[in-house]
Amino acid sequence: MITKISRGGAAVSSGPIDDMFAALSRRPDVISFAVGAPDPALLPGELVASLTADAFAEYGNSMLQYGSTRGFPPLLDKAQTLLAGRGVTCSPDQLHIATGGSGALHNVCMALLDPGAVVLVETPTYGPAMKVFRSHGAIVVGVESDAYGIRPEALDAALAQHNTAFVYLLPTFQNPTGRTMPTERRRQVSEVIIRHGVMVVEDDVYVELRYRGEPVPAFWASAPHNTVYITSLSKTLAPALRIGIAAMPLDLLDHVLALKQGIDMQTSTFNQAIAATFLGSATGAAHVTRTVESYALKLATLTTALGKYLPPGFSWSEPEGGMFVWIEGPGDFDADALIVPALDAGVAFLPGATFYADADAPRNGIRLSFANVPNSEIDSGIELLAALCKAS
Ligand SMILES: Cc1ncc(COP(=O)(O)O)c(C=O)c1O
Repeated sequence: MITKISRGGAAVSSGPIDDMFAALSRRPDVISFAVGAPDPALLPGELVASLTADAFAEYGNSMLQYGSTRGFPPLLDKAQTLLAGRGVTCSPDQLHIATGGSGALHNVCMALLDPGAVVLVETPTYGPAMKVFRSHGAIVVGVESDAYGIRPEALDAALAQHNTAFVYLLPTFQNPTGRTMPTERRRQVSEVIIRHGVMVVEDDVYVELRYRGEPVPAFWASAPHNTVYITSLSKTLAPALRIGIAAMPLDLLDHVLALKQGIDMQTSTFNQAIAATFLGSATGAAHVTRTVESYALKLATLTTALGKYLPPGFSWSEPEGGMFVWIEGPGDFDADALIVPALDAGVAFLPGATFYADADAPRNGIRLSFANVPNSEIDSGIELLAALCKAS
């Protein structure tokens, strides 16, 4: 064979979930709770057109030029203000603009992971991040978690056992469960993190989508010297602009920028100029408010439908924000076995096992993503899914 795939390449491959997404692309009739994307009806075409005109008026043709690897200075300024409002207080030179939150995660992994390095994750956790870690040769180890996130005693024990490169956390509106780590748990976890002298990578892309309850300061606020903070404008403006923002200790950022330069030189100046015009604008804020109102309604429709249709023995999370609800069936319920029958019946979801690090993950979980589904289809979609759960 001529093609010799690297170990990092061989560590990640497509599987049944990719097959399902391929099938979904040919089945527009399916009510899909599988995709964690914004509502297409809310993608702000007119807003982006007017922001682009405003950006040209302000920045001229410089937005068509190469720029610094760190990021477009006006966007870095706006990003600093945005992050400060979440408790991520840092100097402007601790920030960089990445190509999406995904790009930010990859950049950090390039600087922090050697083959064989250990990354500790919550159970369950965001599946694609595990793919990124493994593509860098890392070993991903799940740490026991509960409804409030990673358990401090379990994290303490895992850090004592493993020489850990970093701990990957999603403290707010977690993907896939929707759970949020309360302030007290953040404090307990940060005490463990600081005592062990280890880094946390905090992935915080859903924080603006809060439907009820009070905002919780970012994990960064509890451990600013031990945290890399990653966020993105994909869920509030548009994923296609690929704007990620990352804050981190200066000595790490130097390496991240040198490595990012070799990947893409910089994130698109054009898109960064649009993002700079969006952040802090009244029209941008109005769009986020509209989005939050729409998703809050969908979440209410979804939880009402779950209460109405799911059989006894099934429970679900009640998130305060984000895009996801997590269902847990009885111990012997096998969500993987429902993927194909569900598609045949006209509904799609992601099985929970895909969000665990271990091959012997529990198979009784289901992740539902509600943002992308029209509100009018949520009730019938859940009725279809619940019928399959009942019959399984
Ligand atoms: C937890 C989490 N992190 C990162 C991302 C990637 O976001 P971006 O579009 O900014 O790359 C997603 C996207 O769904 C996500 O759910």
